[in-house]
Amino acid sequence: MGLFGQLFSKKKKNESLLDLSVLGCDMHSHFIPAIDDGSKSLEETMTMLQSLADLGIERFVTTPHVMGDFYQNSPETILPGLEKIQEAIKKEGKPWKIRAAAEYYMDHEFLTKLDAGPLLTIHQNKVLVEFSYVNRPNNMKDMLFALKINGYSPILAHPERYPYLYTSMREYEDLLDFEVDFQLNLGSISGMYSQGAQKIALELMKREWVTYVGTDMHNMKNYPFYEALLNIPEFVSLVESGKLKNADLFKD
Ligand SMILES: [Fe+2]
Repeated sequence: MGLFGQLFSKKKKNESLLDLSVLGCDMHSHFIPAIDDGSKSLEETMTMLQSLADLGIERFVTTPHVMGDFYQNSPETILPGLEKIQEAIKKEGKPWKIRAAAEYYMDHEFLTKLDAGPLLTIHQNKVLVEFSYVNRPNNMKDMLFALKINGYSPILAHPERYPYLYTSMREYEDLLDFEVDFQLNLGSISGMYSQGAQKIALELMKREWVTYVGTDMHNMKNYPFYEALLNIPEFVSLVESGKLKNADLFKD
């Protein structure tokens, strides 16, 4: 069966569902209960995990926000929450595997966190970072450079969601030249955020500048946008390109 066939497998309970098992893992989500704007309870987390398992995803690296202001998370808040999820998965006899890292917001406190280290990584030295949606960080390149000289490799979360980068695709090329990997949000492809985000997501996919995809799932309202990927040929082409590296992030 070719990749196209795998994507549209009919072996799942609901025959209309897309099969995303080919991705290998979801590497961006907000499943740790009540520590950021994602899941509010363990029950909600289990519902979200089941919804993604129904689409064929059974391995997860969950990534709570770590910010200087709103969500002051650290391994001390993240790891106990992860343990509770792992216990619930075991209790329910599910085959799912989950680890935790973080989505680091590049704000005024980021360099302090970097100095205090170590950061929670997605896999090996790979760190998921995000920028402000509103204001272009003045010291964007300095912060990325600081990450690199400390031995980390940055993955930029949802590059399609920063309107100040939309003026030219050269903005994205500059980041790629700086060895930043791009992680596209699956919901952006099917229009969950804005037309601008969708347009840039499709352009980044067309140029094959996307290394990873993630759900960035916060709640069940996000779910219909993942099912909608079934109708997006550009998404199928991206998966068929063989350039997505999600599977490399979750090797046993
Ligand atoms: Fe996120």
